[in-house]
Amino acid sequence: MRIYLAEDYKSMSRRAANIISAQVITKPDSVLGLATGGTPVGAYQQLVEWYKKGDLSFAEVKSVNLDEYYGLSPRHEQSYRYFMQSNLFDHIDIKYENTHVLNGLAKSPTVECAEYNKLIRDLGGIDLQLLGMGHNGHIAFNEPGDDFGLETHLVNLTESTIEANKRFFESKDDVPRQALSMGIKNIMQARRILIVVSGAAKADIVYKAFCGPVTKEVPASILQLHPDVTLVGDKEALSKLV
Ligand code: F6R
Repeated sequence: MRIYLAEDYKSMSRRAANIISAQVITKPDSVLGLATGGTPVGAYQQLVEWYKKGDLSFAEVKSVNLDEYYGLSPRHEQSYRYFMQSNLFDHIDIKYENTHVLNGLAKSPTVECAEYNKLIRDLGGIDLQLLGMGHNGHIAFNEPGDDFGLETHLVNLTESTIEANKRFFESKDDVPRQALSMGIKNIMQARRILIVVSGAAKADIVYKAFCGPVTKEVPASILQLHPDVTLVGDKEALSKLV
């Protein structure tokens, strides 16, 4: 595992964007696995900036997002499709049809998840998977205790995740209680993984995930077993690691 310690959020974001852009430059038709949440926003802004300067093109890139709230329309402002459009896709030259986010309104979550697994396989797998980490160690919406062998599935969000995500909604009651999420198996099959962490509130869980035992109770700990993981974090988030 490689670890990059960044001075602050801005340089963490720049380093993460560097790794993503190197992937796209060396393989223009890369399949990128993308994440939402607060942490990757700065990296997306940096990628947009480099695209606008003419240094980067996403014309042949394909993307698959990790997860989506179940029950939210793609047009809902808190949906992850909306997040991806407004933070990245609307500002770069990626083709809409090459971007894939789970459908939060799918009638059958089982069918939607099976089709998503097939889509990832048909695309040839994920070249680089970007991840954030929840305060309870979740990656995507794989919550503590979830089976490491799962592929894309319907998840019941934990109280801790609902609590952490209520900041994006008008009230806690508005936070959906379920989500569709890639499973640990999909994530572990990505050829490369880039995980970004920021802020003192993540320091304990980052330490547990990378220095503690591999356990379902800390889903991100499974990344210790992946052959190509890059962790990029700011000083606060990595304070207990280095
Ligand atoms: C988002 C996702 C989540 C977040 C995690 C951290 O697509 O899969 O696992 O990465 O909740 O979120 P932030 O970055 O807001 O702390």
